[in-house]
Amino acid sequence: MLSIAVLVSGGGTNLQAIIDAIESGKLKDVSIGCVISNRKDAYALTRAKDHKIPGECIRPRDFGSIEEYGDHLANYLQSNGIDLVVLAGFLVVLPKNFIQAFAGRIINIHPSLIPSFCGDGFYGLKVHEAALARGVKVTGATVHYVDEGTDTGPIIIQKAVCVEPGDTPEILQKRVMEQAEWVILPEAIDLVRKELEDRR
Ligand code: GRF
Repeated sequence: MLSIAVLVSGGGTNLQAIIDAIESGKLKDVSIGCVISNRKDAYALTRAKDHKIPGECIRPRDFGSIEEYGDHLANYLQSNGIDLVVLAGFLVVLPKNFIQAFAGRIINIHPSLIPSFCGDGFYGLKVHEAALARGVKVTGATVHYVDEGTDTGPIIIQKAVCVEPGDTPEILQKRVMEQAEWVILPEAIDLVRKELEDRR
């Protein structure tokens, strides 16, 4: 059984996609050990509570430095037996000490086809605003391993989505979430589960 922690900051629709995949039996041998949010008001914490998944708000502002936050978070997850960290709309830039503590065991969902529209400043609606401004006809989502860069780790899975005439950033974001993010994140977790098993 792979125990995962899902780190969130917002509505938690990607978290919900993981919960639904587990509860439907589509995603096997995976359990959500805990959900961690950096924001008390994240609806993702409500989703966790509704599914009896332990949820905690652990905020960088409560620590002397981002490194102290990283150490605390790493110790918390390790003491809870977490095997894989899943960033699902998590907006904190995690420090190197945390990345090193979970080297090769952190994945992130990004709402574009990396290497397009990613890196510093590209998150949430900003990603789709940039895609529409560039005039791309195809966008999508990517799940990748997290390394010490921003959206630079090895790509695990991607799914393309068409941009339609008249799309607004909000309409495009919804389509990318529904048709790509919510599909490939559970698939990526299953691929990583198998890879981690092979590494053992
Ligand atoms: C969305 O912009 C999504 O594209 C990105 O994170 C944001 C929040 O997603 N991955 P969620 O509803 O909190 O999962």
